[in-house]
Amino acid sequence: MSNSRFADAVRRRLGAAGWLDRSQIDAALVDFRGVFTGEAMGMARPASTDEVAALVQLCVEHDVAIVTQGGNTGLSGGAIPATPRSGDARPRLVVSMSRMRAIEDVNIERGTITAQAGVTVEELQHCAAEADRLFAPDWGARGTATLGGAVSTNAGGINVVKHGNMREHVLGLEVVLADGRVWDGLRSLPKDNSGFDLKQLFISGEGTVGIVTRAVVRMHERPAQQRIAFASLSSLNALNELMALARSAVPGALSALELIPEVGVAQVVEKFGVRRPLGIVSDWYVLIRYDAMRGGDDVARVDDDLTMLLNRALDAQLITDGVIAGTDAQESNLWVMRDELTATRSFGGFGVKYDLAIPPDRIAAFVERADTLVSTVVPGALSFVFGHVGDGNLHFTVLTPDVDDAPLIRAASELRTKLDGLVWEFNGTISAEHGLGRELRERVVGQKSDVELDLMRRIKRALDPDDRLNPGVMLPDE
Ligand code: MLT
Ligand code: ZN
Repeated sequence: MSNSRFADAVRRRLGAAGWLDRSQIDAALVDFRGVFTGEAMGMARPASTDEVAALVQLCVEHDVAIVTQGGNTGLSGGAIPATPRSGDARPRLVVSMSRMRAIEDVNIERGTITAQAGVTVEELQHCAAEADRLFAPDWGARGTATLGGAVSTNAGGINVVKHGNMREHVLGLEVVLADGRVWDGLRSLPKDNSGFDLKQLFISGEGTVGIVTRAVVRMHERPAQQRIAFASLSSLNALNELMALARSAVPGALSALELIPEVGVAQVVEKFGVRRPLGIVSDWYVLIRYDAMRGGDDVARVDDDLTMLLNRALDAQLITDGVIAGTDAQESNLWVMRDELTATRSFGGFGVKYDLAIPPDRIAAFVERADTLVSTVVPGALSFVFGHVGDGNLHFTVLTPDVDDAPLIRAASELRTKLDGLVWEFNGTISAEHGLGRELRERVVGQKSDVELDLMRRIKRALDPDDRLNPGVMLPDE
């Protein structure tokens, strides 16, 4: 089979707009951080579910492997073609969902949106807002990340503490299977106990068991108002008590709870022109958001609630200072600071990066142990921690800014092995919200029992016996 014959077949079925040659897709063969690269013969751009199904059938006929790509904002390399295993000579095809961008239905009574996989998370947020509802999934890459990618990675983000991961937002799915058949599971029932909940296999399947083409997602009631506070922690040991207080002071109001370190604040202040929210400097800060669900009096009360929370936390010496964002500009300043923390993980060149989760009540103990471990293995390295602490989810990076990173590169493997072990000692996971992708698929073997790995492989074999869908991603080699 020649690649050009395959390309011609795709063009015949999908039209000229449905095919891009290898020379046109450089940007799709590297992730946005430049960490993962890959090779493919070209990119197919189907415009409908029928076209995806026809494309998969062509791939079966021509023995081509498929890597589905959404916004290419993933952090584990799951959307970039992996290097084929030895003996696997099949060409790789990137399948982009960028022409499947329709929001097909907004149903206010059911609280659902039905949309194609290439719609962005931000478009879904705007669509829900226009209906005076909330599409809750949210993270820094909202403007580029797509519905299909978010479903396929079970993406998390800043609202998980109140609304849960992507999994909690999907009521129904349509999926093109590895043999080209279409599974229409586009239901919108909050309850459906009619056997296996098959959609859960494709949510977090990272494109290895099917291609998500459409989804029915939930909208929630939109809060009448949200307010955020920024506070300096007296120490990381105060975090637990503060988290408990933030939850209990006004039950149901807490909708985001993020930990931010001074090393991060200093970097975003310097590099992104963000204003320091507080006059004082502390090792750790938290960002806390409260929702007011009703208008009228409740809107005024969200400020009172946050003020009361800060005062109680000050009295209990959990925080040393705090401020509530009083204007839209102050609020967006705080969110820019939070969102840009992602970029600060790349400062200093090479970094050992984690998206880990441990039980939230053990964060301070974990950070202390991890810092000690890092300074033992790579003296002088900087451990940089931030993240969604309400979910126990820490973005942990080890950097050596402004100095030669060769010692860190040399020690990276030992450091990863020891940090993985520490995460598991704390009953945690080495992937909280970014998935396994190419980065973690081998390391996850240490986290899962043989039984669990066997079940995962059996599911893969049952749904994709030819290993056609995203080979070399998520599943460890046997
Ligand atoms: C975030 O929370 O900002 C993202 O998960 C990205 C990151 O891990 O840096
Ligand atoms: Zn995150």
